[in-house]
Amino acid sequence: MSNVTPKTALAHMDIYRPDTSGAVSADPIRLSVNEGALGPSPMAVSALRQMGERLHRYPEQIDQNLVAAIAAYSGCNPARILPSNGSDELIGLLATAYCNDGDEAIITQYGFLVFRQAVTIAGGVPVIAPDSDLTVSVDAILECLSPRTKLIFLANPNNPTGTMIPRGDIEKLIAQVPDHVVIVLDSAYAEYLDGADVDYTDGAEYVDKHDNVVMLRTFSKIFGLGALRLGWGYFPDAIYATLATIRGAFSVNAAAAIAGAAAISDKAFYQQSIAHNNKWMPLIQDSIRQAGFNPLPSQANFFLIRFASPDAASHAHTYLAERNILLRKMVPYGLPDCLRMSIGTDAEMEQLAAAFKDMAHMKDIHP
Ligand SMILES: Cc1ncc(COP(=O)(O)O)c(C=O)c1O
Repeated sequence: MSNVTPKTALAHMDIYRPDTSGAVSADPIRLSVNEGALGPSPMAVSALRQMGERLHRYPEQIDQNLVAAIAAYSGCNPARILPSNGSDELIGLLATAYCNDGDEAIITQYGFLVFRQAVTIAGGVPVIAPDSDLTVSVDAILECLSPRTKLIFLANPNNPTGTMIPRGDIEKLIAQVPDHVVIVLDSAYAEYLDGADVDYTDGAEYVDKHDNVVMLRTFSKIFGLGALRLGWGYFPDAIYATLATIRGAFSVNAAAAIAGAAAISDKAFYQQSIAHNNKWMPLIQDSIRQAGFNPLPSQANFFLIRFASPDAASHAHTYLAERNILLRKMVPYGLPDCLRMSIGTDAEMEQLAAAFKDMAHMKDIHP
């Protein structure tokens, strides 16, 4: 029996790990982790080939080539762009940097579970603001504010619900939250809105105006680089300085920096990915609906399907896994009657539609 014990905060932590298991083959139709449908940009793959001879060199601590490519893509001020080992790293660093033991961070009811886990690991207390109709409620967040609140985490659009918080609500939040509380706008799926909705903001404009608003982004979704672990954040000067100091010096590896700069500059691949998502989101939702199931609206590259009961959702998950199709169970999110799926390739969507059609006849699954 070991006498070594981790800090008390960890004793009661709900461990959250993305579930990538359950496939019947080594190469499943994986729609369970919200990856980009079309794989990586060909420009990123070809840029990676330059890596071979330089593996003995440590990477740049902050790769200016990558920062310049992100700035050119986003219009953000390069001096405030901090690349990271996935945006998960920045979520952890924010919690670590701004929560003293017992400080509170507000998380939304169906918000991304990494927020909750990061706050707990940092020794903070996650305070849950109820959603309204599976959408973040700014009023509920404001009611959770207390003298101990240090951070507010929201994803927009949110994972797993796929719902969006309109610009007016974000502005109301920023106006009413005291300016010592850091507001984290995680815009991991911003690309999928592609400027199509005037009511959407990724939040960058508020980072430029407020010392307590930050925006997080990722290369794991539309840019298809999940394997390399690359994200970035846009920060006011003081927060940038704090995070750049505590971030691991070499946390962004050289392969990620090279591939990321190429991927974010590949406009053709980006447009193709948006067009693919815009084509399949209504088509696949229609097929699922026609089979008698209930897909929920989404602004991202994934959506929830609500079943008649938690058992029906679980049976559907097993049935699809037996057909080599992986969807994500939503039990850890408190949505046990739902499964989440992302948009895949044309062939994958056709197989999924056929599987739903067949499921319609199974009496323990059908709504
Ligand atoms: C809302 C949200 N934020 C952040 C991430 C993590 O992204 P990364 O792969 O850059 O760590 C995800 C991944 O699923 C996500 O859904």
